[in-house]
Amino acid sequence: MTNKRILAIETSCDETSAAVIEDGKTILSNIVASQVKSHQRFGGVVPEIASRHHVEQITLIIEEAMHEAGVRYDELDAVAVTEGPGLVGALLIGVNAAKAIAFAHSLPLIAVNHIKGHIFANQLIAEMKFPLLSLVVSGGHTELIYMSSPDSFEIIGETRDDAAGEAYDKIGRVIGVPYPGGKHIDDMAHRGEDTYNFPRAMMHEDNYDFSFSGLKSSFINTVHNARQKGEEINSEDLATSFQAAVTDVLVAKTIRAAKEKQVEQLVLAGGVAANKGLRHALTQAVEEELPDVELLIPPLTLCGDNAAMIGAAAFVQLENNTFSDFSLNGKPGLSV
Ligand code: KG4
Ligand code: ZN
Repeated sequence: MTNKRILAIETSCDETSAAVIEDGKTILSNIVASQVKSHQRFGGVVPEIASRHHVEQITLIIEEAMHEAGVRYDELDAVAVTEGPGLVGALLIGVNAAKAIAFAHSLPLIAVNHIKGHIFANQLIAEMKFPLLSLVVSGGHTELIYMSSPDSFEIIGETRDDAAGEAYDKIGRVIGVPYPGGKHIDDMAHRGEDTYNFPRAMMHEDNYDFSFSGLKSSFINTVHNARQKGEEINSEDLATSFQAAVTDVLVAKTIRAAKEKQVEQLVLAGGVAANKGLRHALTQAVEEELPDVELLIPPLTLCGDNAAMIGAAAFVQLENNTFSDFSLNGKPGLSV
């Protein structure tokens, strides 16, 4: 049996990425060009700027991925691309590049959901085992997804308002750290103390949903009140207190869901999976409360947006013959 190779492309937000993945689990190359510096001075991703960067970068990044993998186009088995969710103008650049390559080299085209991609980043570090529960935490999503098999995705809980990463980025702006704030807040959180006692919304409710907008407002009000009164604020204690509130809720609900669903594996996914506090708290909770469940956490390089994870998810579709035709379009609001 020969190995199956997929060229994967990801352009849903502010990283242009291409990767070559073998058998859904081996990374032959994974090139990621981040645009974050171009968006930083605006305090968030500007869609028009994102599209423009993707257009400029996409061909170079694909060539680099093919070159680094040492693979020719006639040695590929498929081309995969993120079809959504994401910014429509950004998605379209990747989708059109993938279509052009599929057409030129007579390769099957595979459309991948970005969230499924984040989950399959775990397949690049260890064999995923089912049933599993995934905690997906990114800039746009906070979801608990139950998978009975590699192609079955059931959202059993989700945020009712802000995503976890979004809350990090918004409070980061209030205390003046560069966009995206998540990593900076995480670093500060390790130097302070949990003194502010922020709310842990919905932690004890009998469901698997989340809410972070109350926590965000509480944080912002604390900062504004202190500034109005001319009081000193301790940014590091604020960061520690915020991070403790976020991780307490995420970990409590994830552990409860994993127990109820009796899963084999628990996997962490998405940009916020890079959070040191969350990685530590979840690892500890699984050791203490679910010693028979295997926990997978992707390395930092595979937590943020990248095409390798898209190639890993696409392999399941290649094996199932789930292909797209040339009418494929970007789907900004696509759900799992
Ligand atoms: O998955 P991702 O790269 O893009 C989306 O699909 O949304 O996630 C980006 C998000 C941003 O909100 C960023 O602030 C957050 O992940 N993030 C973090 C950390 N590193 C990235 N949040 C908390 N702690 C971190 N260390
Ligand atoms: Zn993402």
